[in-house]
Amino acid sequence: YKLPPSYNEPNLHYRTASPEREKLVTALSKLREQLPISVPTVKNGKEIASKDEQHTLMPSEIATQFAKYSPATKQDVEAAIAAALEAKQSWAETSFHDRAAIFLRAADLVSNKYRYELMAATMLGQGKNAWQAEIDAAAELADFYRFNVGFAEEIYTRQPTLHAQGQAGKTDWRPLEGFVYAVSPFNFTAIGGNLISGPALMGNVVLWKPSPGNIYSSYLVHKILLEAGLPPGVIQLVNGDAEMITDVVYEHREFAALNFTGSSDVFRELYARAGEGVRTKKYRDYPRMVAETSGKNFHIVHNTADIPNAVKHTIRASFEYAGQKCSACSRIYIPESRAEEFWKEMKDSLSPVKVGAPEDFSSFTGPVINDKAFKKITTAIDSANKDSQLEKIVGGTYDGSKGLFIEPTIYSAKTLDHPLFDQELFGPVLVAYVYPDAEYDALLEKIDTQGGGLALTGAIFASDQKVIRKTEDRLRYAAGNFYTNCKTTGAVIGQQSFGGARGSGTNDKAGSAGMLMRFVAPRTLKEEY
Ligand code: ALA
Repeated sequence: YKLPPSYNEPNLHYRTASPEREKLVTALSKLREQLPISVPTVKNGKEIASKDEQHTLMPSEIATQFAKYSPATKQDVEAAIAAALEAKQSWAETSFHDRAAIFLRAADLVSNKYRYELMAATMLGQGKNAWQAEIDAAAELADFYRFNVGFAEEIYTRQPTLHAQGQAGKTDWRPLEGFVYAVSPFNFTAIGGNLISGPALMGNVVLWKPSPGNIYSSYLVHKILLEAGLPPGVIQLVNGDAEMITDVVYEHREFAALNFTGSSDVFRELYARAGEGVRTKKYRDYPRMVAETSGKNFHIVHNTADIPNAVKHTIRASFEYAGQKCSACSRIYIPESRAEEFWKEMKDSLSPVKVGAPEDFSSFTGPVINDKAFKKITTAIDSANKDSQLEKIVGGTYDGSKGLFIEPTIYSAKTLDHPLFDQELFGPVLVAYVYPDAEYDALLEKIDTQGGGLALTGAIFASDQKVIRKTEDRLRYAAGNFYTNCKTTGAVIGQQSFGGARGSGTNDKAGSAGMLMRFVAPRTLKEEY
């Protein structure tokens, strides 16, 4: 069979009175009526009503409970792993075309039947506005399913081309032995979808632990895959205490891979623990460690830049979704000769920008995800407001009384050595340094060493091609995704594969055949006649 070519899900616009706006508003009110939504426990494909022992809050309205759920017990996690392993052989023996069909069907279900339900869950549960929810829970999720099928096909059709007389050769693209442990973050509904579906498409079985921050949208992602025909055992979704779930996984001999997106600190721990298990021969294989983690991403404005363009992209990169994308820009370098123009344009452009609830279609950006994040970011803001080494350009205020809202905030640092250039806050806070134009080369050296050892995304705004090439070369390892004259956020599946190196992850690139290769164990075959 020839599979259909991959394509990007077209983005809808949600203009006032458009059909998509009306459908979304209906989905939002329907979900509102059900709050707190009771998220069932799914055991081997069977839904069991939640006992509602735990709950999450709605970030834009903290007096409202969003989701209720039952955390898994240790026995539940052990049973889920056992059930996944039981499903393994028959799934591995299912042909690639039959596996692919399930994910292609799931993409269509996301695009058509579940689009507005997924978006409403992402808006109310994770605090995204309609457009941010659209590019995540509708477009990127469907894109991951469709493009991964194309990437997998690329892998499965790779075969050795040279054989000596009298012999034949072949590569057998086996799934890993054992199971994959997928741990996904709150900030993208699509990321969880990719972390589970990539390995599953390659014939693996998966234990999935999503973040409590997107517990309901993750449940929907799983439900859609089951509806698309995924055998119930293949992806086991467990909610609950991350440490306990990890303890059970890490004790298991069949632990074959970690597929993780989250913070660098957590990943370091998970990596080190896997190493310890390897040292004591706990596992049959060396578990693969695949991760995309933190970022302290930068924009560089050169004195040849188009300033309105640089400002427009910086506002989007730093403040959309309250700066909670791993790719968000949180440090910027501005040339002295253009600084006045840059700040004027920035203040003018930011003044109409509205921070508000996701259901309000005039909100440019919304709340941060939870109280812990709010405290971390606002503590940093309080201390920055008092810091004589920082000049506040905009923002520096917040209001957590009804929802977890923080104003877009920018500080200009007097010194390039300020700790804010290294600290990831995961919120709408940008630190700037105004550099002498003549010191551009020295600045590049410094940028390469800043960012707390992280290297996820970066961007240069310039019109001088020589400067662009020099910057790209000099910062070769400073970012896994590097952009010219456009923002650090918004990689599109099939167009820009995504992921960073250094402290930002294993650089396996979400949205690439390289990522899927981490979940196969190739076997080389040779036969002599
Ligand atoms: N892939 C997401 C982006 O590029 C995180 O913004």
